Amino acid sequence: MADLPFDEAEYRGRQSRFLAQIPEDNVVLIPTNPMATRSNDVHFPYRASSYMLYLCGWADPDAVLMAEHGEDGWSVSLFVQPQDTLAEIWEGRRIGVEGAVAGWPIDEAHSLDDLSDVVEKTLARNKGVHLIQKLNDGLDSVVNSAVTDKSRARNTFGKGPVSITDPSSILDEMRMCKSEAEVGVMQRSADLASAAHVAAMRATFAGIGEWQVQAAIEGHFLGAGSQWSYPSIVGGGDNATILHYHANNQKVADGELVLVDAGCEVNGYASDITRTWPVNGKFSEAQREIYELVLAAELAGIEACQVGAPWNASHKATMEVISRGLIELGVLDCTFEEAMGESLDGKTRQFFMHGTSHSLGLDVHDVGVTRPNGEGDGRLLEAGMVLTVEPGLYFGSWRSDIEVPDRYSGIGIRIEDDVLITEEGPVVLTSACPKSVDDIESLVGQGA
Ligand code: GLY
Ligand code: MN
Ligand code: MN
Repeated sequence: MADLPFDEAEYRGRQSRFLAQIPEDNVVLIPTNPMATRSNDVHFPYRASSYMLYLCGWADPDAVLMAEHGEDGWSVSLFVQPQDTLAEIWEGRRIGVEGAVAGWPIDEAHSLDDLSDVVEKTLARNKGVHLIQKLNDGLDSVVNSAVTDKSRARNTFGKGPVSITDPSSILDEMRMCKSEAEVGVMQRSADLASAAHVAAMRATFAGIGEWQVQAAIEGHFLGAGSQWSYPSIVGGGDNATILHYHANNQKVADGELVLVDAGCEVNGYASDITRTWPVNGKFSEAQREIYELVLAAELAGIEACQVGAPWNASHKATMEVISRGLIELGVLDCTFEEAMGESLDGKTRQFFMHGTSHSLGLDVHDVGVTRPNGEGDGRLLEAGMVLTVEPGLYFGSWRSDIEVPDRYSGIGIRIEDDVLITEEGPVVLTSACPKSVDDIESLVGQGA
């Protein structure tokens, strides 16, 4: 096999578990992401679809994975860009058809030039298609016209596909619980992101530009052969109170905090960490009060991540700690019940506006149904799931919709870790990233 993140048995196991859930008279067609234009002749850096990476590790553009059941069981083929010297002079070397079949966990490879012909013939032998649509227009139109034509002709000829089904929910469910090998890769992603946050803490000084903190973090990712898994959020002072802040173009004054939400990708697997630190290396009393409250909430949220607990357990736990804390600090003048609300939608939500957890994996907001129909406490946690725990408190001085207490005005704090669910309790994959007040204060500004 080529130098892939997992061995052949891991990929073949995923393929078999997936295909065991597909009717044997259906064809499976899974295209990868297309290239996307940034401007004119310039493309965005390419990222393959997570389904393609999950099933066979193929990371190059335009490929289509096909599976068909025959006399010997399921056979998995991959359509790839053929070798082509002229194209390769401009765009880079291609693995090609022979390279694909020799080095990837597939049974056959074809040139993409033959996609329409081979797919049409394969469709004619089958009664249904499991296709992920809207990624490859050419493939969609071959399948859609075959389905339309054949279903019309079906009563006469009795063959050809009559239905298109989206297989992504089957794959999403499989991707929710990570294998041991996947956890190993996710740990590497978490370790690298932790080290990058430490490097950024060390490089911070009063008056630093948000973009300079971003450069310290992302330089660390690049230096390790990695890259961000989502655009880094670096918000100083009030900017930390904007949840999806991404301008990263302001200086952070002496006495202000900087909130850094940044993670990287290792072999396609995301890490997702938030830390908040004082740029001058010392929390003020007011900052420390809020920081300690968010940290206590985060620790309670992590503790709630137990096998058999409902998906919402971490959010309930963080909401409880933060609600009690806001009442004690005099921020909320109401009962605990009013702070919590009937559906965790009470007064606390003025200052803690987002959820606590999302699934993490090949996508930073990973796939899979956590709360069926978006209701209730959600499904029960299982060993192998990985989720974030990320409570925050935000006192934007600019908020006109609520009364922001003067003492905390301009403070925004979030603390986020990546947590693996195990039978022995939660394992914090990002535990190498410091978060106690003392640890942070002893690191900020210390240099490399
Ligand atoms: N970085 C996005 C998130 O924390 O969900
Ligand atoms: Mn997150
Ligand atoms: Mn995050």
